[in-house]
Amino acid sequence: MPSITARTGALLLGSHMISQGLALVLDDNVGRLPALGWNSWNRFGCDITESQFLTAAQKFVDLGLKDAGYEYVNIDDCWQVKDRRDDEGRMVPDPERFPDGISGTADKIHDMGLKIGIYSSAGDKTCQGYVASIRNEETDAATWAEWGVDYLKYDNCYIPGEMKDECNYCVPELTKLENGTCVDTKGLCPSDYDYHKSNSAKRFTAMRDALAKQDRTILYSICEWGTANVQQWGNETGSSWRMSNDIDPSWKRILDIWNQNSFQMHYVDFWGHPDADMLEVGNGITLPQSRSHFAFWAAMKSPLLIGCDLEKAKPEEIEVMKNRHLLAFNQDPVVGKPAAPYKWGTNPQWTFNASFPAEFWSGASSNGTLVLMFNPHDDTRFKSSTFSEIPELAGGDAYEVLDVWSDKSLGCVREKLQADVEGFDTAAFLVGGKCEVDEV
Ligand SMILES: *[C@@H]1O[C@H](CO)[C@@H](O)[C@H](O)[C@H]1NC(C)=O
Ligand SMILES: *[C@@H]1O[C@H](CO)[C@@H](O)[C@H](O)[C@H]1NC(C)=O
Ligand SMILES: *[C@@H]1O[C@H](CO)[C@@H](O)[C@H](O)[C@H]1NC(C)=O
Ligand SMILES: *[C@@H]1O[C@H](CO)[C@@H](O)[C@H](O)[C@H]1NC(C)=O
Repeated sequence: MPSITARTGALLLGSHMISQGLALVLDDNVGRLPALGWNSWNRFGCDITESQFLTAAQKFVDLGLKDAGYEYVNIDDCWQVKDRRDDEGRMVPDPERFPDGISGTADKIHDMGLKIGIYSSAGDKTCQGYVASIRNEETDAATWAEWGVDYLKYDNCYIPGEMKDECNYCVPELTKLENGTCVDTKGLCPSDYDYHKSNSAKRFTAMRDALAKQDRTILYSICEWGTANVQQWGNETGSSWRMSNDIDPSWKRILDIWNQNSFQMHYVDFWGHPDADMLEVGNGITLPQSRSHFAFWAAMKSPLLIGCDLEKAKPEEIEVMKNRHLLAFNQDPVVGKPAAPYKWGTNPQWTFNASFPAEFWSGASSNGTLVLMFNPHDDTRFKSSTFSEIPELAGGDAYEVLDVWSDKSLGCVREKLQADVEGFDTAAFLVGGKCEVDEV
C-alpha cells in the first residue's frame, strides 16, 4: 500500500513519488538537490554504444568524479531499434549498440556504485525519430523500472497535433524580444493564463504519474525547452525542468542560456531546479570560458551533467568540474536557494542581454557567501565589489576570504573584493566570518 507522509496538502501519487504542496518529492532524497552526472548527447549525439557509458562510468571512478559526487550515467537519444516496439508493446534496445540490453548496461553501471539514466520524448517519436512514449507512458515507465533505470530525461519532440498547446508562452528562442519581453504577441497566451491546463503540462504530468506507479525511484528530468511557462508547473511535475532550448558548444549560446536563467533564480529551491542544460566543458570552449560556464551552472543550482568525452578531457578541465567549493555550493544540504545577480556590471541593472549576462552574483551557503565576478569582455579587466553592495555581506567591514579556484585563503580582507579577471573568466570567492584587520 502506498504511504502518505504527514504534510498538509500532500497529493498521493504512489509509494515512491509524492507531490507535496508544490514539489515532487521522491524517496531517499532523490531530486532534492541538483543531479550530478554525465550524458552522451553533447559529445556523441546519436553515435552511441554501451562502451561509451561504461567508459564514462569508469572515468567517474578513476578521475575522482564519483568521489566528488557525480553519480548518473545517462543514455540520451538513439538507444533503441528505430521504429518498432516488441510483441508486448515494449521499447526495444538496439542489440548492436547494447548487446546485453539496457538492463545489462544498468547492472554494470550499478556494480560500479553509479546510477543509469534513459531518454524518451513526450511525443510520437524522439527527436532523432525513435519510438517515444506519448500514450505509452505506463508501459515505458514499467519497462525502464524493470531494467533498473534510475533517471529519465523526457524530451519534447514530435508532439501530436491534437496535443499541441492552444497558445504559447513568451520564450526568448521563439520570438523577438525587447529587454526580455516578447514584442510580437501573436499566438501568445493571455498574461493570466493558467499553464497547468496546457497540453504541455498534461503531457509531462502523464509520465510523472506513470513513473510514480513503479516500484522504483526514478528521477524525472523534464526537457520541455522552457516552453508553456514551466515555472508554474515544473516543480510539482519533475525534479528539474529545462528553462531554455538546447545548449551547443559555442560561447554565444552558453551566455544566452545563462542570461535567460539569471532571471529565474527565485524559482530555484530544494526539489525544483531549472536545468540550464548539459555542460560543454571539454567540448572546445577555452579554460576561462569553462571556469565561468561551470561556476555559474553550479551557482544557479542547475543539474550538472558533464557532456564531454572523459577519455579526452584535459586534466585542468576535469579539475574545474571537480571544484569542491562550487560542488559544495551546488549540493548544499542546508541552503536550497541559488546565487543570484546583485549587480549587472557593464549594462544597467536588470538588462536582458544575450551576450552580457549579469556579472556580479552572490549566494549564501553553509560555509559562507559565494561571490562571483564575471568578465564578459575578451580582454583582462579589473573587477571589484565592495562588501556593502553584496546583500549577504552588507554591514561588515572585513571578512575571511577564500579563493575558490586556487583553494587558498586570502586572509582577512577589508572593504572589498577585487581581481584582475582574464577575458571571459570569473573570479570566485567564498567569504566566511567577519574578522579584524590589524591597523598599522
Ligand atoms: C517547490 O516546492 C517546494 C515545496 O512546496 C517549495 O519549497 C519550493 O520553493 C518550490 N520551488 C519552486 C521553484 O516553486
Ligand atoms: C563546508 O566545508 C566542509 C569542510 O571543508 C565541506 O565538507 C562541506 O562540503 C562544505 N559545505 C559547503 C556547502 O560549502
Ligand atoms: C529591463 O526590464 C527590467 C524588468 O522589467 C527593468 O527593471 C529594467 O529597467 C529594464 N532595463 C532596461 C535597460 O530597459
Ligand atoms: C548587450 O550589451 C552590450 C554591452 O553593453 C552591448 O554592446 C550590446 O549592444 C547589447 N546587445 C543588445 C542586443 O542590446
